[in-house]
Amino acid sequence: KMNAFIDNLIAQMTLQEKIGQLTLLTSDWESTGPTMRDSYKQDIAAGRVGAIFNAYTAKYTRELQQAAIEGTRLKIPLLFGYDVIHGHRTIFPISLGEAASWDMAAVEKSARVSAEESSAEGIHWTFSPMVDVSRDPRWGRISEGAGEDVYLGSKVAVARVHGYQGKDLAATDTVLATTKHYAAYGAAQAGRDYNTVDISERTLRDVYLPPFKATVDAGVATIMTSFNEYDGIPASGSKYLLTDVLRDKWGFEGFVVTDYTSINEMVPHGYSKDLAQAGEQAINAGVDMDMQGAVFMENLAKSVEEGRVSQATVDRAVRRVLEMKYRLGLFDDPYRYSNEAREKATLYKPEFLEAARDVARKSMVLLKNENNALPLAASAKSIALIGPLGDSKTDMIGSWSAAGDRQTRPITVLQGLKERAPKGTTVAYAKGASYDFADAGKTDGFAEALALASKSDVIIAAMGERWDMTGEAASRTSLDLPGNQQALLEQLVATGKPVILLLMSGRPNTVGWADQHVAAILEAWYPGTMAGKAVADVLFGDYNPSGKLPVTFPRTVGQVPLYYDQKNTGRPIELGEPGAKYVSRYLNTPNTPLYRFGYGLSYTSFSYSPVTLSAPSMGPKGAITASATITNTGKRAGEEVVQLYVRDLVGSVTRPVQELKGFEKIMLKPGESRSVSFTLRPADLAFTRADMSHGWEPGEFKLWIAPSSGAKASTPVTFTVTD
Ligand code: IFM
Repeated sequence: KMNAFIDNLIAQMTLQEKIGQLTLLTSDWESTGPTMRDSYKQDIAAGRVGAIFNAYTAKYTRELQQAAIEGTRLKIPLLFGYDVIHGHRTIFPISLGEAASWDMAAVEKSARVSAEESSAEGIHWTFSPMVDVSRDPRWGRISEGAGEDVYLGSKVAVARVHGYQGKDLAATDTVLATTKHYAAYGAAQAGRDYNTVDISERTLRDVYLPPFKATVDAGVATIMTSFNEYDGIPASGSKYLLTDVLRDKWGFEGFVVTDYTSINEMVPHGYSKDLAQAGEQAINAGVDMDMQGAVFMENLAKSVEEGRVSQATVDRAVRRVLEMKYRLGLFDDPYRYSNEAREKATLYKPEFLEAARDVARKSMVLLKNENNALPLAASAKSIALIGPLGDSKTDMIGSWSAAGDRQTRPITVLQGLKERAPKGTTVAYAKGASYDFADAGKTDGFAEALALASKSDVIIAAMGERWDMTGEAASRTSLDLPGNQQALLEQLVATGKPVILLLMSGRPNTVGWADQHVAAILEAWYPGTMAGKAVADVLFGDYNPSGKLPVTFPRTVGQVPLYYDQKNTGRPIELGEPGAKYVSRYLNTPNTPLYRFGYGLSYTSFSYSPVTLSAPSMGPKGAITASATITNTGKRAGEEVVQLYVRDLVGSVTRPVQELKGFEKIMLKPGESRSVSFTLRPADLAFTRADMSHGWEPGEFKLWIAPSSGAKASTPVTFTVTD
């Protein structure tokens, strides 16, 4: 039925009308680049544009939709896209924080709530999930992804797609998802946004592509190209990425949209001589829709008329776009998502706010907790909250919370702590320091903060980065606390009072000094609308922290890139030989990170039994199950993320020293034990072999089940795979 409908429609369309369907323009609400056409309303009425982004609310989308339906010959409905990244109105923790929960139900829930709220405001399509693996915390967009790991990143990506798209795209509370940015954007050289990417084909396939492939397998509706080049070719012009891999190898059936003006940018990249050529290269490579560049709109007709782009190529792209409009039910009722009554009943539902609070506390990672400094003891009768993030609303929802309210809704840490503090406990606030780069060296505010600190029982230093220091175009060359925060932190510690660092940021920060000197560190990322409530839940112990790092925290920016699944090298440094010469090491810094991938503490403790294997070896069609018993050895109920790591000892190409191959988050009561099992098949051990084929190789492997990467809770066990 759908095919016949679309065939019939395409048969009636002029070339100009077809090109309109391949054009996505921003409304005048917001943009992240040049707003190139402010005539979008006329463009809609003239059928020159088939999709709009940065427009929402039931009323406004209805108004624009009306212009398309009533103004155009074929009455093809508009598609409304938007950056709904970690919540729409109710904002959840930033994506990196959500990944730190290692809780796929929580991640999916966040996406589900986002879909419910955004679809109630007329949105059909979100530009999420961002699945770019990144191993460079200088890159500001590390905050938008799921961190450094292929396996975790793929699981998070799929959970998000399920949450957004649900089971039925025709349901009015689901939206099309977009996997972005295809591909390898997270490998921008030196962490500078939009910079050149130059990685091996093997690394592309084994590290950067798998999360994209996982979402294609999960049925993601659309893919967004990236700004960067890969192997000398801008992603939006890469036939290799967009056709050979995405379509021919993976069988992707949705449509491909570019990133913002990325076709135009093929000219400054030095790949296209002018916009006309850029448009031809893009569509011939496999792009279907041009975001904001108006390149197709202004050049494609001539390219078709002069034979440089075929009618069939245009028709194929148009078909892919129309299919999605059809699947959303827009041809039945173009206004079905623009319902003001539903909008009113849906936004900020109490259950959404509760879900945001729950995901926020699940995302927090306890990095240090000396002498059980946390949870706050009942004897701490006066709490000094100090730092620029302590009473900030604007920072709490992080970047890419496009429709999020930054001014009134977010619950600050001060508010959350005050509301939760037991009777008789006071919470007082002094900003003390500034996170602005320009304020480094200043000390105004220190005296007030120190006076407050000295008369309090405990100090909570709410420090980190301003919300827009991560996200797009927000790269840094230092990972230190910006502004004069470190200087104040040192003076707070010098008071002798216990200091708890409440770190809020969108990337790993270099907090080695704090690790040595403060009593406890809680990484809270940017927790979202319910920030203060979630922080209070964790600090007062109403929630036992369970997050684990989805990304390595280096000791210094000089170690970057530093990631857990590195190679051994020919001259590995052996533990116990810290000063050895002619091994792969630095003279002045250990090779090890400050905090490892997968690391995170709890208010309770867990022990791991030795691992048992169901068999010592498996054949090509076999499987091995590895099990360990985890026991809660502390006094509180708590969750543990049990992680499975494998090392492939010898390969036709060198293999990482460890790779995450499974994880499970379990809840244990004090004294309770649970056996956790992971089943591995040869396909789980596949990689890009020397001959560039994808598959596993027979041989010997080591395996361990542990609370984090690098930690071997018991002696690794060995198994073999036979051919
Ligand atoms: O979705 C975003 C993308 O991540 C960066 N450029 C702009 C797009 C649309 O806002």
